[in-house]
Amino acid sequence: MSFAIPHDDLQALEDRVQAALRTTDDSALDVLGYGEVTLVLKLTTPHGAYACKRLPVFPTLERYERYTSTLADYLEKLEQAGIRAAPTRLWHERLSGGRIVAYCVQEALPAERLCSRLLRDQPQSWAVDFFKRFLDHVDRAVTPAFGLDAQASNWIDLDGELTYLDVTTPLLRDDQGRERLDVPLFLTSLPWVLRDAVRLTMSKSIFDKFYSSRGVLLDFLGNLHKERLEKLIPLFLEVANPRLSAPITAQEVAAYYRGDARMWELIQRLRKADRFWHRNVLRLPYPFLLPPEIDR
Ligand SMILES: Nc1ncnc2c1ncn2[C@@H]1O[C@H](COP(=O)(O)OP(=O)(O)O)[C@@H](O)[C@H]1O
Ligand SMILES: [Mg+2]
Repeated sequence: MSFAIPHDDLQALEDRVQAALRTTDDSALDVLGYGEVTLVLKLTTPHGAYACKRLPVFPTLERYERYTSTLADYLEKLEQAGIRAAPTRLWHERLSGGRIVAYCVQEALPAERLCSRLLRDQPQSWAVDFFKRFLDHVDRAVTPAFGLDAQASNWIDLDGELTYLDVTTPLLRDDQGRERLDVPLFLTSLPWVLRDAVRLTMSKSIFDKFYSSRGVLLDFLGNLHKERLEKLIPLFLEVANPRLSAPITAQEVAAYYRGDARMWELIQRLRKADRFWHRNVLRLPYPFLLPPEIDR
């Protein structure tokens, strides 16, 4: 299943993003979703609607090409593991000085089928059925070299089949256990005060959880707090724990979430300070679009 990239429309979208960065006014952008790392924009064209995920600007063509091949490998491995991913294509444009701006483009899938939303709207029996399918997917796919960021908001349920959306940060490790992703590049939206510290100490622990079934599950469950779906946690633990050698408790989930939420809150606060510094002191445009406050 593939689709044609609407080149001219993407060019126009990128022009609108550039204008938003220059003027700090993002009202001309149609935001589909805010993640922790990317901003997902909706592009509506006469031929259909697309979800466009703007990647950090690549300093060189070579680094962009490396990303292209890592993403292709990740999509292939997802398929081999029997996980359906939203068909994804890359679009890019050369900027001055050899830099590359790129987007991961997918068809906009029906937002009302987003699993975080269905967990809210559907009866408990749906939630249990979803969660069993979810566990099967995670067990099947996750290895020390292949990770998943499996939060409920990263899946869409289409005709009873789970479709994975969040492929922009391919979670693949090489034989030495190093991320194949250009981690420093994907951390460039962090303020400079944090960048080196995160790169050296935190990035391994940020990523580790995605490479074990238990870690992925704990992250999924912790995230239910953020989604205001924590009432489902005891039910899900009943389903999951018989499968685990070390059962997870509700307390462990809550403690995990507090730690994770605190980290992201700190990062968002520092990003805002960095943006203030750029705009008001350096008088330079701040090169990222930040999500609004998340209520945790
Ligand atoms: N193909 C798509 N169709 C519809 N909505 C999407 C699509 N991709 C992403 N979204 C929306 O945007 C949100 C963030 O996208 P995601 O790919 O998970 O990026 P992030 O890395 O920022 O979490 C999703 O939770 C979903 O609400
Ligand atoms: Mg996501």
